[in-house]
Amino acid sequence: MSPTVPAVERITIRKCSGIEEFKACVDLQKEVWNFDDLDIVPLRMFVVSEKIGGQIIGAFDGSQLVGFAFSIPGSRNGHPYLHSHMLAVRDSFRNHGLGRRLKLAQREDAIAKGFELLEWTFDPLEIKNAHLNLVRLGALARRYSVNHYGFSSSPLQGGLPTDRLVAEWWIKSRRVINLLEKDTSPQFRVEKKVSVPAQIYAWKASDADRPKAAEVQKRNRQQLLDAFRSGLAALGYERDAQGNGSFLLGRWDENWSYASGPEENGNED
Ligand SMILES: CC(C)(COP(=O)(O)OP(=O)(O)OC[C@H]1O[C@@H](n2cnc3c(N)ncnc32)[C@H](O)[C@@H]1OP(=O)(O)O)[C@@H](O)C(=O)NCCC(=O)NCCS
Repeated sequence: MSPTVPAVERITIRKCSGIEEFKACVDLQKEVWNFDDLDIVPLRMFVVSEKIGGQIIGAFDGSQLVGFAFSIPGSRNGHPYLHSHMLAVRDSFRNHGLGRRLKLAQREDAIAKGFELLEWTFDPLEIKNAHLNLVRLGALARRYSVNHYGFSSSPLQGGLPTDRLVAEWWIKSRRVINLLEKDTSPQFRVEKKVSVPAQIYAWKASDADRPKAAEVQKRNRQQLLDAFRSGLAALGYERDAQGNGSFLLGRWDENWSYASGPEENGNED
């Protein structure tokens, strides 16, 4: 059963510490993604990450972990940044703002540590995640990675190639500050839309309908790669009353960039 709103408001967001809390993250990871053991990020990686400047931030209902955000430090062209590898909220606690609160805590901690950029990847077929990332947090995407992790054992992937968009969260940009601190959504001219049908979740989960999901993935991959190569970025997202989603692509008018890696935006074949 879904928790009541007051129960969710009682939940505290704080850094995890100690082996037991890191173990709880590993357990929640298994619960949320249902990966085979080989695909699991093990306890040792949580221990290491915390020691080398990464982030393990938990959402706690009393002493019980109900969500976490996990990131590791990275570097690109001489610029340090944080790569957020996982964000998870227990199913029964979802859609009450905990995912967003975990990300905001990541941002606060990243600013305190002197970072300007948090990145993570997300499946462009996930309508909910695109809305959270682009609309609610102010991240943007302009890099596409084809079959990023190879094939995955998680049922969330539905047996499709693990295509990912890279979310860039420039945490001190005008775009993010206006959205998060002044409640002002970014304005831009929409030059292209790339749509995802609401049925995508059902199609991924069904053997009979999976080819339809694969077809959408293939079409959107090409459209997004073409758009990114022409200098567009996914700056917004819209959902209609039926639950269909659309990426809104335009030109970002700020100059934040550490330049992308060679593996993205070029290997769709
Ligand atoms: C992604 C995840 C962490 C989000 O956590 P959460 O606590 O539900 O997130 P929030 O409540 O802060 O935000 C969810 C937003 O999506 C919206 N949403 C929910 N279902 C949706 C759907 N089917 N389509 C579009 N938007 C949807 C919610 O309304 C909310 O937006 P709002 O704040 O504008 O109302 C959680 O769903 C999860 O653990 N998913 C499985 C693992 C995963 O995909 N992790 C992220 C990639 S690493």
